[in-house]
Amino acid sequence: MVGFLSGLPAGVPVSLDFVNHELWRRQQGYGRGGRMKIERDTGRILSGVRHGKTIGSPIAVLLENRDWKNWQEQLPVESGDPKLHKRVASPRPGHADLAGALKYNFSEARYVLERASARESAARVAIGALVKLFLRELGVEVLSHVVAVGAARLEREIPWDEIRASCSRDEVMLNCADPEIEPRMKDEVDKVLRTGDSVGGVFEVVAHNVPPGLGTYAQWDERLDAQLAAAVMSLQAVKAVEIGSGVTAAYSPGSAVHDEIGYSGVGFTQFSRTRNNAGGIEGGVSNGQEIRVRGYLKPISTLRRPLQSVDFATREPVKAAYERSDVCVVPAAGVAGEAMVGLTLARCALEKFGGDSMTETCRNFKGYVEQLRAY
Ligand SMILES: Cc1cc2nc3c(=O)[nH]c(=O)nc-3n(C[C@H](O)[C@H](O)[C@H](O)COP(=O)(O)O)c2cc1C
Repeated sequence: MVGFLSGLPAGVPVSLDFVNHELWRRQQGYGRGGRMKIERDTGRILSGVRHGKTIGSPIAVLLENRDWKNWQEQLPVESGDPKLHKRVASPRPGHADLAGALKYNFSEARYVLERASARESAARVAIGALVKLFLRELGVEVLSHVVAVGAARLEREIPWDEIRASCSRDEVMLNCADPEIEPRMKDEVDKVLRTGDSVGGVFEVVAHNVPPGLGTYAQWDERLDAQLAAAVMSLQAVKAVEIGSGVTAAYSPGSAVHDEIGYSGVGFTQFSRTRNNAGGIEGGVSNGQEIRVRGYLKPISTLRRPLQSVDFATREPVKAAYERSDVCVVPAAGVAGEAMVGLTLARCALEKFGGDSMTETCRNFKGYVEQLRAY
């Protein structure tokens, strides 16, 4: 896979170790399948970075598929031997198999899952690592944690320091910051491992130290919440996105929802809030609080005890195809969610501060921060 990124200013320090660590984080979590054991993703930067820094031109990152060597005869670039082709004979409910085969006029779903698979999210994480390095220069950090796996879920808001501690563990179970809830999440995964089923859940991405003023209410597609929702929803298996406490807000009175304003704070301005139900965005604009975005994942579509389907060739009822698969990917999806939130914030930051070099971008950024302090 090759990921491309264009638009980063020149002079962003790039650490390949950081890129690879982010790729490692995407491969972790209890409930991942066999592929994670075959492959340890590493990125190779092909262009756009020299002497450890971006140079303002497009960046290309190559991620090799180690598993490819086992597939060269089944999926050759050339016409190859059709007898060696491995069909995905019956579409899996919940996957792109049927819709993709109909759309592209394929007689079965092998080519569909090549691209519809969340394998693609590895490229987003590699590119996301680069934008995180850019955001870090502005003091912005983006991390995630797991809020729910199946029926096991957190009932409290997790502060930034606990999220950071959870993300810096060397062994990742389910990236839940609460040590009492995490084993209950593991039980949920064990249950589906026993029964041949799969399980979904909820991750939360938190962007820390984001200045007020990113995004705008001026046009519908420039609203930060709309951009973040589209970015996170674009991840495989994400079926709902929540900003702040948006879901419970819909069932609560206004007095319990809106975050009262004071004037004794520290941060970008003296304005303060007693809570952050808005998830750091009001009117489509960042308000200086932490940005909190949740992604709700449906359970994985490939089941060891498959659901009912139809054979592509005979149209007879059969069980859906089974391929080696994960059963729970909530922590990994959270890491991919960080990349999507990072990309969105970086784009908004560059729209606001501009700059072809980091010297220029940081000078513009500092000028704005001074303006906020003097407000
Ligand atoms: C990180 C990650 C890993 C995934 N791994 C698998 C997998 O191993 N097997 C599978 O069937 N689905 C997996 N999925 C989910 C599918 O990609 C998803 O069900 C499919 O794209 C259809 O969902 P969609 O309609 O949202 O695209 C994974 C999703 C994510 C985010």
